[in-house]
Amino acid sequence: MTGAETVMARCDELAACSEEAERITRPFGSPSMKKAQELVGRWILEAGMRVSRDNVGNVRGHYEAAAPGGPTLLMGSHLDTVRGAGRYDGMLGVLVAIAAVQELHDAGHTLPFAIDVIAFADEEGLRFGSTYLGSRALAGTLSPADLNLVDARGISLAQAITELGGDPSRIADDRWHGGDLIGFIETHIEQGPVLEARLLPVGVVSAIAGQNRYALTLKGEAGHAGTVPMNGRRDALAAAAEIVLAVEAEALARPGLVATVGKLDVFPGATNVIPGQVDLSLDVRHSEDPTRIETCAHILERAQDVGAQRNVTVTVKPVSENAAVPCSARLSQLLSRAVEDARLEVLHLASGAGHDGVAIESLTEIGMLFVRCKGGVSHSPAESVTAQDVAVAIDVLGNFLERLAAA
Ligand code: HGY
Ligand code: MN
Ligand code: MN
Repeated sequence: MTGAETVMARCDELAACSEEAERITRPFGSPSMKKAQELVGRWILEAGMRVSRDNVGNVRGHYEAAAPGGPTLLMGSHLDTVRGAGRYDGMLGVLVAIAAVQELHDAGHTLPFAIDVIAFADEEGLRFGSTYLGSRALAGTLSPADLNLVDARGISLAQAITELGGDPSRIADDRWHGGDLIGFIETHIEQGPVLEARLLPVGVVSAIAGQNRYALTLKGEAGHAGTVPMNGRRDALAAAAEIVLAVEAEALARPGLVATVGKLDVFPGATNVIPGQVDLSLDVRHSEDPTRIETCAHILERAQDVGAQRNVTVTVKPVSENAAVPCSARLSQLLSRAVEDARLEVLHLASGAGHDGVAIESLTEIGMLFVRCKGGVSHSPAESVTAQDVAVAIDVLGNFLERLAAA
């Protein structure tokens, strides 16, 4: 099998590692994540790397440099998924990085720098709500408050780390301490329609949009659906519905801004009971931070207005905030030359999706290579890439490594 065919087959193998039989759902620290990490550990060894795991659960592969004492290039992506995920978001970046090292190893080739391939344990935040737990551990920016995050069953991140065999009290050891870093390169599906529209297999990422995540709790008054008159109800779901439409209207009014209510839980959740409480998520993103920040303030103000009109209390809990992050001009230049080496047009495009590079940028320069995905669809079982485009990505990454070695 070619390197690309191997990557595609491995994406299928990882897709079978899921907490749910009928769809791909692989949260932090789950049994299915453990299985996926074992597979990736095996593939890292086959590519001639040393394998290790850190406290938070990232799997790391180390490919020695030609001579000791040189700097290190980080490559990789995340192994966790959203609920009902596709099989390429995150996994493709881990497997393409391993494939690029496999090619070096098969050729008995070493570079003037070491390569660490990292499979991050949690980027999506499905289990604990917060983002970039794996890459923030590597960057040394996980806080004690993060360790107290709890999942839907009330298990804290610290407990989950302990259950995985890690030591939450030593999470600071996960911070990179392997000497000088050249940068971090992540290959990732575009999760958008641009490359497909431009008939290009790959693109070079210019920046990653900033994003805010909030948890809103609306509290009204539960009551009998048959006996409480419409006037005077304190219906938390009717208030939530008005807020969801206000979120959409505020986003539509600002070019380039996206805002989403992805989760909405209704309590008590019975046909004949007026909803007394609604919990909902809010995700707001834009490539310019001032626009994002102003919009968040405006949306939250409108939410409070709706609550006041409907006599429903609106409590807002900020979950995470990440500023927009530029990709390194130096690494992007080298990636662009590497794309040209593959006789392809170079397209620079921004990422609306968040990526581990957002966390790693506090540690070292970041660069990203996007791979075309069908219809731009992602966070869905319909996520799809072609082996041909994956072969281009591996080829470009190989060109990039050679150029970096010669730089
Ligand atoms: O939400 C995101 O943008 C990414 O998929 N974590
Ligand atoms: Mn994702
Ligand atoms: Mn991703």
